Amino acid sequence: MKLVERAVKAFDERTGLITALRQVALHPIPPGTGWSYVFGSAVMIALIIQVVTGTALAMGYVSSAGEAYQALQFITNNAFMGNFLRGMHFFGASAMVLLLGIHMTQVFVMGCYKYPRELNWITGVALLILVVAIGFTGQLLRWDQVAVWAVVVAAEQASRVPILGASVARFILGGDTIGAQTLSRFFALHVFFIPGLIFAFVGIHLLLVLHDGISEPPVLGEKVDPKTYLGRYHKLLAERGVPFWPDAAWRDVVFGFAVVVAIALLALFVGAPRLGEPPNPSLLAQDPAPDWYLLWYYAALALIPHGLTAPFIVLAPLLGILIVLVVPPLWNRGERHPLKRPWAVAATIIVWLMVGTLWLEGIKAPWSPRFEAKPLPVSVVGVASGPVYRGAVLFHDKGCEFCHAVAGYGGARGPDLSTIGDDLTRDEITIRILNGGYNMPAYAAILRPDELSDIVAFLQSRSIKRLSPAQQQAMAAH
Ligand code: HEC
Repeated sequence: MKLVERAVKAFDERTGLITALRQVALHPIPPGTGWSYVFGSAVMIALIIQVVTGTALAMGYVSSAGEAYQALQFITNNAFMGNFLRGMHFFGASAMVLLLGIHMTQVFVMGCYKYPRELNWITGVALLILVVAIGFTGQLLRWDQVAVWAVVVAAEQASRVPILGASVARFILGGDTIGAQTLSRFFALHVFFIPGLIFAFVGIHLLLVLHDGISEPPVLGEKVDPKTYLGRYHKLLAERGVPFWPDAAWRDVVFGFAVVVAIALLALFVGAPRLGEPPNPSLLAQDPAPDWYLLWYYAALALIPHGLTAPFIVLAPLLGILIVLVVPPLWNRGERHPLKRPWAVAATIIVWLMVGTLWLEGIKAPWSPRFEAKPLPVSVVGVASGPVYRGAVLFHDKGCEFCHAVAGYGGARGPDLSTIGDDLTRDEITIRILNGGYNMPAYAAILRPDELSDIVAFLQSRSIKRLSPAQQQAMAAH
């Protein structure tokens, strides 16, 4: 025992590390910090999970377009605990984004970003952007259909931006099309560049927390004034301060542990996103849904009228980031209590409601093809042989039904075609199928002439006048 003690002492004498650690652990913090203060450290725990699981995954991963898919199959199906690690890494990322959102909301609502902690807010916003970026780059590393197409969509959206668009798209893809260079680029960003920046910003963020101290719980009517604040804060610490460890830190430990357990349970019982088909750029209809934390943004892009998209894609996020970055630090004095800051509270609620609504829209994804659409039943088609019947089968097999509903079967990305025979002539239908349209692929090179004429026959049969009573009933029933 003596020996260990002496070794520790000798080590501390030469490095000062143990004294420093003790000082950090025991440094006084304001009294009354409760459970609402645990989210910052929980983000940190999620980050540590990401570093550990990410390093383990990187050992089995190959960032080459030809081999990534196989490598992931191997990690998922054969490697020791591979699928569990993928699950931890996926849910760890989700936890990080979610906890970061909660942490920022709490800091904002309680006015913790006010003097002298403005730089904490700014480094925090930088961390949010980095975390979203690392999630986005990580998604592509799954290198399956969905992942690849989510990035293609992002690049395509970016390329519509005036002036800079083409360069931004080239930068995202690492060239003109998605391919080997894109994967190498995303891998380098995901495992070297962005993590480096995240560590740097986390370091600054934590140094600032130690330097400025944890903010005291807001008191109604107590205003922040740079002239008097520090004096008041240090007096509070001297008179009623409590040591960080264990008085407040035990809550961080309990909550952090719960976060780890929750992530592990999700990884075990829900599992990582299933790997889809290997990427195949020639497939028409894809479902380019990003991981959930960006889904609301894709929903916003899909829902705005398409003339507006170009400015919206870049200007809206830039404006959003600018507001979040600059506005709180500009209001760095005055009341901190939420009851005295109704506008701040209202803004927070509106932002969460907006994201939540868009997110629900994103899950329903009316713009996204429905691949699970079932073939049309005979009760809808009306006949079980002949051109109309063959057309109905092709309508499903060629993917039309992914986007178009007939009598309630099928997707909602394109117009409902239940009674299209009343609205369009034979020629109009043919031209539309051959040429496609906004968000509809052109089928000229895909359908044989006989297939085309069968589909047209089927669509022409969709006319109220020509539907049998039984078909009309099937339409009304669904
Ligand atoms: C990826 C989704 C998608 C697929 C797949 C798709 N469509 Fe479309 N379709 C659309 C959209 C979106 C429109 C509206 C286009 C526009 O307004 O420019 C449309 C329009 C149409 C129209 C004109 C509807 C009207 O009311 O003017 C017809 C007819 C049509 N599609 C038939 C088909 C057929 C037949 C197929 C399969 C061979 C098919 N579509 C495949 C998305 C799709």
